[in-house]
Amino acid sequence: MSQLIAALDEKRLRRFQRSDTPGVSPNNTPSPEAARQRYDETANRYDLTTRLLARPRRQAFEALGLRAGETVLDIACGTGLNLSALSRAVGSSGHVVGADISAGMLARAKARATAEGLGNVELLLGDVSKIELPDADAALFSFTHDVLRTPVAVRAVVASLRSSGRVAAAGVKYAHPAAIPINLAVRAVAPRFITTREGLRRPWSNLAEAAGPLKVESLLFGSLYVASGRVLRT
Ligand SMILES: C[S@@+](CC[C@H](N)C(=O)[O-])C[C@H]1O[C@@H](n2cnc3c(N)ncnc32)[C@H](O)[C@@H]1O
Repeated sequence: MSQLIAALDEKRLRRFQRSDTPGVSPNNTPSPEAARQRYDETANRYDLTTRLLARPRRQAFEALGLRAGETVLDIACGTGLNLSALSRAVGSSGHVVGADISAGMLARAKARATAEGLGNVELLLGDVSKIELPDADAALFSFTHDVLRTPVAVRAVVASLRSSGRVAAAGVKYAHPAAIPINLAVRAVAPRFITTREGLRRPWSNLAEAAGPLKVESLLFGSLYVASGRVLRT
């Protein structure tokens, strides 16, 4: 009986994930070009839309356990909401490298870094799966479902990390299939920020495959997660 319920849940979830919404790419894979365009258009309002997400952001940051002198990557850094905390954690002897595909978002990140005097921050413009990343001790994936659902990008980030490097991701996910109202809300809101709903059940799965086992915590009735761990090299 429980297997039957699980199978029905899977079927319902697959139907649920079908891409028939404006903003979601037709083949349900991430579209860097669509993301670039959308975030260039919405960069000036972005910070207002993410105020409620301070807790998972902070938890992912804390999970990295950054130390003075380290280099940390802020993958798809957007307007730089995480830059101050990262910059302070690694100190003047450390280095924060933020990367984002949207020039509009990155311009805001640059203005923030300048206004706050974050002298250890460098910003790179481009698709994370294509740009060259420096060697680093840790990488943060904060609300960047599109990048996490791009295996080549995730592998490139993990490859740039030193042995035992740390990774942490925070973002939106589907709750248990039975939590229908929550999942309807996630389904409705997510396309404002992401170009694919693929992988919303376990957004960290590509990261776990590339890096190793992750500790995953659910928040807000299962609609948010924080995943973190260390890179295991065999
Ligand atoms: C929801 S915002 C998150 C921004 C920031 N990390 C935060 O926590 O607020 C998603 C960001 O991912 C960026 N992005 C999407 N696909 C990307 C890619 N392939 N390479 C680099 N950045 C990407 C977008 O431009 C956008 O700034």
